[in-house]
Amino acid sequence: MTKTVMPRESLQIDAFAMRVGDVAAADLDQLHALSISVGWPHRGVDWQFLCEVGKGVVAFDDIGRIMSSAMWFRQSAELATIGMVITSPRLQTQGTGLWLMEYALKDLEGVNLRLNATRAAQRLYLSLGFRPEKTVYQCQGIVTGPHAGDPVSGEMRPLTDDDLTAVTALDAVAFGVGRSALMGKLFQLSRGYGVFRDGRLAAFALCRRFGRGHVVGPIVAATDEDAIAVVSPHIRDHEGGFLRLDTHFETGDFAAVVSRCGLSVFDTVLTMSHGKTLKDFACGDANAPVTYSLVSQTLG
Ligand SMILES: CC(C)(COP(=O)(O)OP(=O)(O)OC[C@H]1O[C@@H](n2cnc3c(N)ncnc32)[C@H](O)[C@@H]1OP(=O)(O)O)[C@@H](O)C(=O)NCCC(=O)NCCS
Repeated sequence: MTKTVMPRESLQIDAFAMRVGDVAAADLDQLHALSISVGWPHRGVDWQFLCEVGKGVVAFDDIGRIMSSAMWFRQSAELATIGMVITSPRLQTQGTGLWLMEYALKDLEGVNLRLNATRAAQRLYLSLGFRPEKTVYQCQGIVTGPHAGDPVSGEMRPLTDDDLTAVTALDAVAFGVGRSALMGKLFQLSRGYGVFRDGRLAAFALCRRFGRGHVVGPIVAATDEDAIAVVSPHIRDHEGGFLRLDTHFETGDFAAVVSRCGLSVFDTVLTMSHGKTLKDFACGDANAPVTYSLVSQTLG
């Protein structure tokens, strides 16, 4: 692991000094303006949710404007994800991103890390010791039609509060670590569908409001067939609306259905790790549940 250093409290950029602050105390409108400045779709409430489930820092210029951000999310005792790493286009390539990442790494010493890197950020993360793992395909668009697939074996139904424990447990097997606090909060914001066999949850998909429309994630299933079964009702619910999902699957039946329903690949990012590679990337068991779509690029 890279050795972390104590980050400086201010950073000289051009003629002025930037100072660091806590994202929890930052103005939501300013955070929103920062993500808009780099073309990201987050709404103020999306930032608010991230501030509730994570920690982070922002960099202020000398008149108090937020010019940069970095956040991190402890998913479990062993794993954290890092995200919302943004520098205002006017200040990029002057060391601010690296400076705020030092705060994240300092707070997360000894924890395994994962993030999803845009092309612009890969050099920064490589220099900090992150390793490339897998490509993420950001699929999105206006839903053009429901998927009329073959009926799946088992019972397919909307999830209720009573299903949260099973959903959290299945997600933990797929993701590699349990993240019950995050799943509890997501569950409250989401509509979900699950496939049950012999009274046990075999696959599920959650969908919530995000950015320009809705996002489906996580989707956890052991087969393409089950993943298609649980994503299909969300596709039906959002026909004519904007839907997004972020998946490691580029090919196969699941990816084909997603694309046929109008969600084309808009962009790719690269999942990178620091520390131990998690089980979900190493898993070779064909019948084990896997993550078909992420909660989000920020939360993994
Ligand atoms: C990625 C980003 C946060 C980097 O912030 P920054 O303040 O410019 O970063 P730094 O100045 O500390 O640069 C760190 C390294 O990344 C490199 N870098 C910065 N911007 C880059 C770009 N657009 N393309 C390629 N490399 C870039 C820098 O040259 C530097 O590398 P070096 O140390 O080898 O010279 C910023 O470009 C950004 O906000 N981009 C849009 C949003 C985004 O993609 N965020 C990343 C999410 S994972």
